[in-house]
Amino acid sequence: MLRQTLLRLAAVLLILSLAACRRRHAVARPSIDAREGRALYLRYCALCHGKRAEGYAADHANALGNAGFLAITTDEQLRSAIMNGRPGTPMSAWGANNHGPLQPKQVDQIVAYLRSLARKRFIEVDRLPHTGDPARGAVAFRASCEVCHGPIGEGTPRATSLSHPNFQQSVSDGYLRHVIVHGRRGTQMAAFGALPRQTIEDLIAYIRYRALPPAPPPSPTYGPPPGLDQLVINPHGTPPKLKLREGRYAAAADVAKALEEKRKMVLLDARPTSDWNRAHIVGALPFPFYDVNELAKTLPRDGTWIVAYCTCPHAASGHVVDELRKRGFANTAVLDEGIGFWMQKGYPTAPGKVIEPAK
Ligand code: HEC
Ligand code: HEC
Repeated sequence: MLRQTLLRLAAVLLILSLAACRRRHAVARPSIDAREGRALYLRYCALCHGKRAEGYAADHANALGNAGFLAITTDEQLRSAIMNGRPGTPMSAWGANNHGPLQPKQVDQIVAYLRSLARKRFIEVDRLPHTGDPARGAVAFRASCEVCHGPIGEGTPRATSLSHPNFQQSVSDGYLRHVIVHGRRGTQMAAFGALPRQTIEDLIAYIRYRALPPAPPPSPTYGPPPGLDQLVINPHGTPPKLKLREGRYAAAADVAKALEEKRKMVLLDARPTSDWNRAHIVGALPFPFYDVNELAKTLPRDGTWIVAYCTCPHAASGHVVDELRKRGFANTAVLDEGIGFWMQKGYPTAPGKVIEPAK
């Protein structure tokens, strides 16, 4: 009798614990939003930030899934970085508010996905304004930080920018203090907590001092880009003479010359249309890397030269050219150094067509 009762009790306990287990499992499963967000992330972001948000798949795209990053970065900060980007760096403005491909809900889904990767509890950073001196901070910055972040914190292929207005506006002194003291475990960003307290304050003062002026007000309203029937520049011209470095890269000088000589070619801007609107190479049409599958069908197959470019040296344009080569397009090239270098050289660019100025 007693044995039977005990057995029954054990069975009930087993069933209960199994149920609890299942429930716990259900809680741990990512939400629908996070799952949608993952799909969007893979389509739009993985190229640079990596398939598992580990960072550094291209350029200095940071580790979005890093535990230390997610522990201090608010949803609002993520949302604003995604929607408004970091113009001037490879990080595009992805929000529809900037003519990017993502609706606010989709941005939230990506944020939910990134949150689902968090492996540490959220930490509220302190709210104390810094008490540093930028002149002393400049000396410390030169000694310990500029190799990676650049002399004025403008960012380099090794590390993100610190002076970008969109970054500066979205983080507090407490955030900067936390990162400097603790670093980001698992990335190149070491902990500098061993520095004297005052030096850390001075570094924050210097980073603030270097803040670039805020980006221009919300972008104007742009008209739609020209139709893909206008892809071929100078359809009656002769082909350009492009000598490719490593069988892949066309020099900016050669492409600029080809434009000047009215050669027949196609120029593809591999970035989201938000970037194309701000400034693109004259004659180029938006051809975002994540749409290459559908857009490739619109390209001429008669051997016309096709040159792709992006901001970054080559991540997005390289992806487009790889995909076109896979599909058998004969003459394709990546613009060496991207549009940043092109602009530095003063070669011709144009913005999108403004139909309503910024308010
Ligand atoms: C072409 C490469 C590229 C793509 C594609 C890209 N990013 Fe970035 N992203 C970067 C780089 C580079 C930075 C650092 C910019 C800087 O120097 O300030 C960055 C910065 C960020 C930041 C700010 C991180 C911080 O330190 O505060 C967030 C958030 C972010 N990206 C999210 C995304 C999301 C989400 C997507 C997809 C919708 C995406 N990125 C697509 C290259 C890219
Ligand atoms: C060896 C290269 C290196 C050095 C030196 C370095 N950093 Fe960094 N730093 C990085 C990288 C890489 C990241 C981005 C890490 C990640 O993926 O989250 C970073 C991130 C940061 C961030 C956070 C940026 C963000 O978007 O959240 C701050 C602030 C920062 N560094 C400040 C400094 C300061 C101040 C110094 C000098 C005391 C310094 N760093 C030295 C490589 C470096």
